[in-house]
Amino acid sequence: MTKNLFIKTYGCQMNVYDSQRMADALAPQGYRLVEQPDEADLVVLNTCHIREKASEKVFSELGRLNRIKMNREAEGGTLVIGVGGCVAQAEGAELIRRAPYVDMVFGPQTTHRLPEMVSRATRGTEKNGIIDTDFAAAEKFDELPAPTGTNRSSAFLSIQEGCDKFCTFCVVPYTRGAEFSRPQNDIILEAQTLVDQGVREITLLGQNVNAYRNNGIGLADLLENMSQIDDLKRIRYTTSHPRDMDDALVAAHGTNEKLMPFLHLPVQSGSDTILRAMNRGHGVDRFFDIIDRLRAARPDIAFSSDFIVGFPGETDADFEATLDLIGRIEFAQAYSFKYSPRPGTPAADMNDQVPEPIKNERLAALQDLITQQQKIYNASHIGSHTSILFESAGRNENQYIGRTPYNQSVHVTGDATLLGTVRQVELTISKSHSLEGRLIESAGATI
Ligand code: SAH
Ligand code: SF4
Ligand code: F3S
Repeated sequence: MTKNLFIKTYGCQMNVYDSQRMADALAPQGYRLVEQPDEADLVVLNTCHIREKASEKVFSELGRLNRIKMNREAEGGTLVIGVGGCVAQAEGAELIRRAPYVDMVFGPQTTHRLPEMVSRATRGTEKNGIIDTDFAAAEKFDELPAPTGTNRSSAFLSIQEGCDKFCTFCVVPYTRGAEFSRPQNDIILEAQTLVDQGVREITLLGQNVNAYRNNGIGLADLLENMSQIDDLKRIRYTTSHPRDMDDALVAAHGTNEKLMPFLHLPVQSGSDTILRAMNRGHGVDRFFDIIDRLRAARPDIAFSSDFIVGFPGETDADFEATLDLIGRIEFAQAYSFKYSPRPGTPAADMNDQVPEPIKNERLAALQDLITQQQKIYNASHIGSHTSILFESAGRNENQYIGRTPYNQSVHVTGDATLLGTVRQVELTISKSHSLEGRLIESAGATI
């Protein structure tokens, strides 16, 4: 009998990956994905704890789900509610206390046990809710089934989980546990399965993906071995920590043709004082040095980053230093956040918390600068010819969307045969977040 599953995903790409794997793991029990929670027999919220706003959203969504559940039960039906991911890990039993209608609470490292939890929950014999927040990363990857039914040309593949770095603002080491890297063979097999299903671009994921190390194999080796998969055209990896950007990886950007010339490398701040207080383990000079070496290896490489404004103790001068850093690097894109104090992290208890209005001002100024840089970056590509991997249909008729090697979205007029292929495109118009282009060849894919 088919049953309906609705999954809502918050947070980072690792959660996106986990949600897909949850759907794969539940398919043998007859669950198929639906678009709306009110059509579902089982709802899973895959949650994020990184900033206060992200975790509070979960509780308002749970309130809505509870109303659906009560209506359903009044009509003699049922709705099973599960909460997974980083809020589940952080809150554990407290989550069930706050929302007693939740049937299952499970952390990011126990998604493989979801089918068993669902069987128990649907039997209706569990009185108090099921809680499973073990750190079982190795077991998770061993037990999750191979990905099924992919119809995308670009896919995520988690290769590394957890974090040992303990930046003073961040909950990830507590919610995802210690660093763990999957064995290379498992990763290559999973990549091959994805490619057999039509995937042409794989983004390797990890909270510290460049800290990947298993059995003496580092990320540069893994990238090299993965690029041997014939029909795989593009490889990316995210998120990287500057501390783990070793020589072999820098060199790979110059030699591995499938490795795309775009790197997301979060720096958070341009002030040494703040970087120290954040426990990032490197200063500004080291960051510039890494960028210089990457540009020497791959002159056309584009960069993206993450920034936090209003970290405790951040002065106007510290913030100016961040703007200076941005001015010097010229990012192709960047994400920026107001510092959000998180329970249990050292920075939450630091003196000199920055008042909200100042955080707002700094965020606006930083985002203005980034938008300006992004516009200049995109505009600099107008008139150039580049390869685009087409991934989805656009909103308008005959409009298709793909990405350049530098991760820019490009809208092109064409037909559905473009999907999943890499084509040569002339970039014609630049907008703030995307570009428009025109197919150069009328027929024949380049792959
Ligand atoms: N492992 C990655 C970051 C993962 S979290 C790294 O070290 O770079 C993604 C981003 O969320 C971080 O880069 C940071 O910019 C932001 N972030 C994390 N904790 C935050 C907090 N407490 N307040 C505001 N932003 C935060
Ligand atoms: Fe969080 Fe720092 Fe680890 Fe990144 S490196 S996940 S910011 S603790
Ligand atoms: Fe959020 Fe957890 Fe990812 S806190 S950013 S979902 S690792």
